[in-house]
Amino acid sequence: MKSGVVFSISLLGVATGVKGAATTTFPQASGETALPTPLVVSGSFDGGMKRYNRNPDTCQDQTETNEAAAMFIVEDGGSISNVVIGKAQGEGIHCRGACTLRNVWWEDVCEDAATFKQAAGKTSYVIGGGARGADDKIFQFNGRGTVSIKDFYAEDYGKVIRTCGDCTGNGGPRHVIIDGVIAKDGGPLCGINTNYGDTCRISNSCQDDGKSCDRYTGVVKGNGSSKKIGTGPDGSSCFVTNLTETCSGGVGSPTTTARTTTARTSTTTSARSTTTSASSGGTVPLYGQCGGNGYNGPATCAQGTCRFSNEWYSQCVL
Ligand SMILES: *[C@@H]1O[C@H](CO)[C@@H](O)[C@H](O)[C@H]1NC(C)=O
Ligand SMILES: *[C@@H]1O[C@H](CO)[C@@H](O)[C@H](O)[C@H]1NC(C)=O
Repeated sequence: MKSGVVFSISLLGVATGVKGAATTTFPQASGETALPTPLVVSGSFDGGMKRYNRNPDTCQDQTETNEAAAMFIVEDGGSISNVVIGKAQGEGIHCRGACTLRNVWWEDVCEDAATFKQAAGKTSYVIGGGARGADDKIFQFNGRGTVSIKDFYAEDYGKVIRTCGDCTGNGGPRHVIIDGVIAKDGGPLCGINTNYGDTCRISNSCQDDGKSCDRYTGVVKGNGSSKKIGTGPDGSSCFVTNLTETCSGGVGSPTTTARTTTARTSTTTSARSTTTSASSGGTVPLYGQCGGNGYNGPATCAQGTCRFSNEWYSQCVL
């Protein structure tokens, strides 16, 4: 009866609107875009769930590249939402200042998925979305301030986020907040430098080996390499609450099980469609957006059905 118990917890999670659950299904792209240079975003950019690649491809695996190899460059205060980033690009997203990355999916991470370069006192947000295939880290945190990662899905990766081990002018503190993240087939959620005062706070998440933090001594570029000095919560830099190793159904993923159930999915979808489409006419093309918080377009699919992806995105799929 173990699965029965898990399932009823799952339903409760949906019914009461519990936050803190990543979606573990990668979306289908609504179309293709390939650009010769990075797309520079100031303000907000909504990709409509299209797949973005560079042409020519700028991925050179783990060879250190830079901003010029990115798919998107986001200026301070900018945001990107509803984008699929394909494999033919090197550096994903570079945030020059504070940024918000909402419902962004990296299908095959090259060097890293995103790099945060904001100043002290600023906060960047990753909300929803997911990444897979990162040989090393998914998120590279080179600036200062705080990066908050919520309801994100990580699969087949080295670390979810690492504060820079050996940057030019390295230092800190850098703070990481991880909540509602599901992470499978990879390493720790955080890599932090305790000598620079970094912190990582993990809550309501799942890592299928229970790996929370790796703690390092960071260095300034040219002064050797950073040294790993410990793992796990230590009461001063790594704080962990409600981290489970059971990534399908459990504390970190109350809605994962429920969303694979057809009945639940359609109930959730139609409820959301109703609330997000009050005054709109027309229909949504296949793989287009048909619902989500802040969405005001039509909710009727020209083809297929409207499937709930997460709080911010429902998509017309076959
Ligand atoms: C370089 O490393 C040494 C120890 O290996 C340390 O004492 C020194 O402060 C470091 N210098 C810088 C600029 O970080
Ligand atoms: C841990 O989980 C419990 C039970 O779901 C919840 O009440 C509590 O708020 C969670 N702790 C944090 C820090 O989110």
